[in-house]
Amino acid sequence: MSNPSLLILPGDGIGPEVMAEVRKIVDWFGAKRDLVFDVSEDLVGGSAYDKHGTPLHDDTMEKAQQVDAVLLGAVGGPKYDNLDFSVKPERGLLRLRKEMDLFSNLRPAQCFDALADFSSLKKDVVAGLDIMIVRELTSGIYFGEPRGIIEEGNERVGINTQRYTESEIARVARSAFELARKRGNKVCSMEKANVMESGILWRDVVTEVHQAEYADVELSHMYADAGAMQLCRWPKQFDVIVTDNLFGDILSDMAAMLTGSLGMLPSASLGVPMANGRPKALYEPVHGSAPDIAGQGKANPIACVLSFAMALRYSFDQGTEADRLEQAVEKVLADGLRTADLLGEEGVTPVSTSEMGDAIVAALTASL
Ligand code: IPM
Ligand code: MG
Repeated sequence: MSNPSLLILPGDGIGPEVMAEVRKIVDWFGAKRDLVFDVSEDLVGGSAYDKHGTPLHDDTMEKAQQVDAVLLGAVGGPKYDNLDFSVKPERGLLRLRKEMDLFSNLRPAQCFDALADFSSLKKDVVAGLDIMIVRELTSGIYFGEPRGIIEEGNERVGINTQRYTESEIARVARSAFELARKRGNKVCSMEKANVMESGILWRDVVTEVHQAEYADVELSHMYADAGAMQLCRWPKQFDVIVTDNLFGDILSDMAAMLTGSLGMLPSASLGVPMANGRPKALYEPVHGSAPDIAGQGKANPIACVLSFAMALRYSFDQGTEADRLEQAVEKVLADGLRTADLLGEEGVTPVSTSEMGDAIVAALTASL
């Protein structure tokens, strides 16, 4: 059998720095666990635009469709702010999501014990937190038509459309219920059924899927604004949250910060199974390209490292090795290692991005 294949797209800003640390870990699994990946690397976002005049070259898109999993760093930066909308770095990422049909975006928010003090919330509110946001990723207002900026009378009008079909809602709901069964068996669905028709349909379809196929899972519904409030008030009431593309974007940033730093949170974007049975998959940190700290060795590589752990779990059936990697991260944090995003404790000097990566590799080796 051939090795599993991995396409690495470091992207822009801190993307390449954090991805360099993931490369060390990928290599470690090859050398020490006999888990050898065929790794290829390519450009996405601003870096692709600089070379090809497009944020995602067709060849790269084609490669992404062929491999077992894609690992992406981050895209975007102020250098590209004034580009035409159609070639902005973010369009590269959105094209990958859309054309690979990665409809289910898993964003876990877990609070590591060693970091409970970093949250802006009280320690007992976040200690032990372990929730999973399932964000619909290929439809909704991100992709709905009509869209654009048009002239109307003597002014411009900006238009976007929230559009969901029943099947789009049903498939992401199923993915949330499936996950819940492997966790706390609870799903909370969030929409704005009080003001949006798409929200009414969302609530109906989630309820139908629940009754027909997942009645053993506990289901509740919340308006997304109330959900945001509850996430701040008592996040541990949640197990799995399922929501649309835009609400999921916002709620997942919020959930990420509950855990102390945006630099910690991974994500998996999954589609339908390929011929080999593995889902189409892209793994990326929830954080952005952080241009303000790029190139300075200040970035926290953990979100990207944990995204690779999710790849081990969801694409490669290597749950034990994923646990090993997550425990290695937990170990270096418990040992007091901190990148610059995690400062505030007395007498702690930050380690660099690569020192953090090296420490995780050392903890992996120590786990053998
Ligand atoms: C995210 C990001 C993206 C999004 C951007 C970079 C297009 O914020 O993955 O959460 O809005 O989906
Ligand atoms: Mg976002």
